[in-house]
Amino acid sequence: MSQIQQLEDFLAATLLSPEGAAQHLAGKVSKQELAPFLGELSAMSASYVSHEVGSKLASPIKSVRSAEAYALYYTVINAAKVLHLLPSLSFVRDEISVLDVGSGPGTAGLALLTALDRSIRLTCVEHSGYMRQVAERLLSQYRGAGKLSKLSVVPAIAPNNIDTYDLVIAANVVAELDTTEGERTVRSLAEKTAPGGYLVIIEPGQQLHTRRLMHLRNALLGSMTEFAPLFPCLRRDPCPMLAYSETDWCHGTIEWRQPRLNAHLDDLLSFNKHRIKYSAFVFQRDGVTPSGIRVLTPPQKTRVGIETLVCGEQIYGVVRIRKGCRSEKNRALEKASVFDRLIVSEPLTQDLGEDIVITKA
Ligand SMILES: C[S@@+](CC[C@H](N)C(=O)[O-])C[C@H]1O[C@@H](n2cnc3c(N)ncnc32)[C@H](O)[C@@H]1O
Repeated sequence: MSQIQQLEDFLAATLLSPEGAAQHLAGKVSKQELAPFLGELSAMSASYVSHEVGSKLASPIKSVRSAEAYALYYTVINAAKVLHLLPSLSFVRDEISVLDVGSGPGTAGLALLTALDRSIRLTCVEHSGYMRQVAERLLSQYRGAGKLSKLSVVPAIAPNNIDTYDLVIAANVVAELDTTEGERTVRSLAEKTAPGGYLVIIEPGQQLHTRRLMHLRNALLGSMTEFAPLFPCLRRDPCPMLAYSETDWCHGTIEWRQPRLNAHLDDLLSFNKHRIKYSAFVFQRDGVTPSGIRVLTPPQKTRVGIETLVCGEQIYGVVRIRKGCRSEKNRALEKASVFDRLIVSEPLTQDLGEDIVITKA
């Protein structure tokens, strides 16, 4: 069973009525059992979609039931994004400290507990009392690969708190803040990141949210020289995509095996999360940016050969392998997916010869 299905099974068992939980175990939950959540999810989605990016979102979480509805549908989607980014992080200690800001129902903590065989000292910061209530319940009951050695779920970080954390994460939170608060929040998250620790910011994959995040990335790297980008950026100077294009945005798509209740809710609500679009940045305090190039668009067969947009220390732009130059040595480029990191044997130019050796990192 996939890790995400395991998490969904737990959410269904904890949040649905006993009858609904039994139906989930048997295969499919009836519309009647899901009815209390459907209206909440429709209203929530409408408020996310109509929200003007750059302004503060009025919270659509108006009751424990709406926080539960959020957890039932959005938690597996957002946990999948966290799991997708985990390979960029590595922890040496058996116990790690994690700060999840705008934790909602404890999404990042649940994702980490699912996949990380570690003790986790978790602090969730969450404005909404309804979300905090659900987060406490879910996180204290969940049994995954990891275990919680400490849990605190608080409405805000105390001003005199000087703790720093091995992992600081803010997922789908900056999207809810106005521009000034977004900048202030990212800076304060960076300050909470311990030496050697990671700062992970995840946002919805839409153009405006992502371009806003790209500006925040520039501001952070411009002012805090101790942070190195690890993902997707392989360079720390101002983002060339922002400089060269007024419309492009650096985002990825996660192909997942959609868990079955999530797919059923999609059908009932006419939502569509067969694939998950996202944008994210991973930074490490005192880290070293990996070498190579990041693939930013799916490699395409064109009239001239194989073409794809890449970004790395030496290059930002479309590179191509002309028809006569395709070879086993450079095959990894045409096989690459968006956000793959590739290592190349020599400095890149726009045209790649048949002898250049390209490998997937
Ligand atoms: C879209 S939810 C994301 C929840 C969770 N991180 C996830 O990815 O599923 C955003 C959450 O951030 C909370 N929030 C927004 N601004 C916040 C802030 N400045 N401090 C704490 N929580 C905040 C909201 O109440 C909401 O629950």
